[in-house]
Amino acid sequence: MNSRFSLLLFLFLVIVSQSKSSIFKTFPGNLSPKSPLSSVVLLLSGNVFPLGYYSVLLQIGNPPKAFEFDIDTGSDITWVQCDAPCTGCNLPPKLQYKPKGNTVPCSDPICLALHFPNNPQCPNPKEQCDYEVNYADQGSSMGALVIDQFPFKLLNGSAMQPRLAFGCGYDQSYPSAHPPPATAGVLGLGRGKIGLLTQLVSAGLTRNVVGHCLSSKGGGYLFFGDTLIPSLGVAWTPLLPPDNHYTTGPAELLFNGKPTGLKGLKLIFDTGSSYTYFNSKTYQTIVNLIGNDLKVSPLKVAKEDKTLPICWKGAKPFKSVLEVKNFFKTITINFTNARRNTQLQIPPESYLIISKTGNACLGLLNGSEVGLQNSNVIGDISMQGLLIIYDNEKQQLGWVSSNCNKLPKT
Ligand SMILES: *[C@@H]1O[C@H](CO)[C@@H](O)[C@H](O)[C@H]1NC(C)=O
Ligand SMILES: *[C@@H]1O[C@H](CO)[C@@H](O)[C@H](O)[C@H]1NC(C)=O
Ligand SMILES: *[C@@H]1O[C@H](CO)[C@@H](O)[C@H](O)[C@H]1NC(C)=O
Repeated sequence: MNSRFSLLLFLFLVIVSQSKSSIFKTFPGNLSPKSPLSSVVLLLSGNVFPLGYYSVLLQIGNPPKAFEFDIDTGSDITWVQCDAPCTGCNLPPKLQYKPKGNTVPCSDPICLALHFPNNPQCPNPKEQCDYEVNYADQGSSMGALVIDQFPFKLLNGSAMQPRLAFGCGYDQSYPSAHPPPATAGVLGLGRGKIGLLTQLVSAGLTRNVVGHCLSSKGGGYLFFGDTLIPSLGVAWTPLLPPDNHYTTGPAELLFNGKPTGLKGLKLIFDTGSSYTYFNSKTYQTIVNLIGNDLKVSPLKVAKEDKTLPICWKGAKPFKSVLEVKNFFKTITINFTNARRNTQLQIPPESYLIISKTGNACLGLLNGSEVGLQNSNVIGDISMQGLLIIYDNEKQQLGWVSSNCNKLPKT
């Protein structure tokens, strides 16, 4: 496959060193329910195809330096390519982060939070706090935790510069099948304690809510806090515990509004994944249903197009998904745990891309093939045009159709 795409879903964190300190700082929960916390809103760039990721520019340090991060709700730790010196960095040293004696010692509570719930091992409390994160696409980052200022502007007009811990990544490896990502690092938006969101909440800056709106035209926005949640129209489903990923379910799949027999699915929402992955059986069923429909259409399989495993060509090259969407049906995820009908619609434009040669390619992939086993992962392609809210306070995930090129009114 010659296109760039990522699957940043963390599989495991390897614990390298840890402290024996007994003071485990617990994270908030002590905010009064009505404290008027503001939000941080950040503009995104990127797209599903050809880039394969959505990214945000974050300023770090004093004086601040900007770094571009791939946004990833499938992992917790934020890291940036770091000149310590670095192996596996594709940014020139000038553009890498330079630590200046701000490494987090392994006895620090945040290091404990990083390695939680494993047993600490930190013979010298001043030693650095190591991290290693491995992603489902076989990329990885290794390094040490550092702490630095992140200047943010809040929606209420206040400027804040919380000191947040993140990874100084001085040893990266990338999956051999894809070109290395163009971003400086990964912004971990997961539920874990090391996540940037948890740290913002600890600092009393925002509520424990993160959300995004990925535009199909590219770009969009990301937010921390609850001020942008629309009061009407949001469909909510519970987040499943205990899990570090944003997992929802059980759900059944409908195709063109009709049952497929696919039931009891759990779905992970992962902005670090360019495409959507289904387990083998689900994938096979959906591919068959789509294929059967196309038998009576002018579309033919385009074996020569290696952009994605399955592509179709028309009489002449397509310019936009809108030209082919009538040949394809909507896939509906029906959450069966809900009292009301709670459904997430995946219309053709949320599972197809148009390749460089003008074919329509299926952005639904076989997760079993890449080691996801039975997990299903909703990637960027299927989250376009939706405002998606991960509410860690109420433990629920919400979505509503939205124009992601425009910030909502507050
Ligand atoms: C804005 O909200 C933050 C908390 O999110 C608070 O600390 C700050 O005082 C607020 N600023 C104004 C001007 O209300
Ligand atoms: C979706 O799931 C709900 C809850 O199980 C069920 O009542 C409803 O009939 C389903 N909708 C469709 C269209 O199958
Ligand atoms: C999905 O991948 C698994 C593991 O590689 C394979 O056994 C299975 O046949 C694949 N399913 C389809 C429909 O391609």
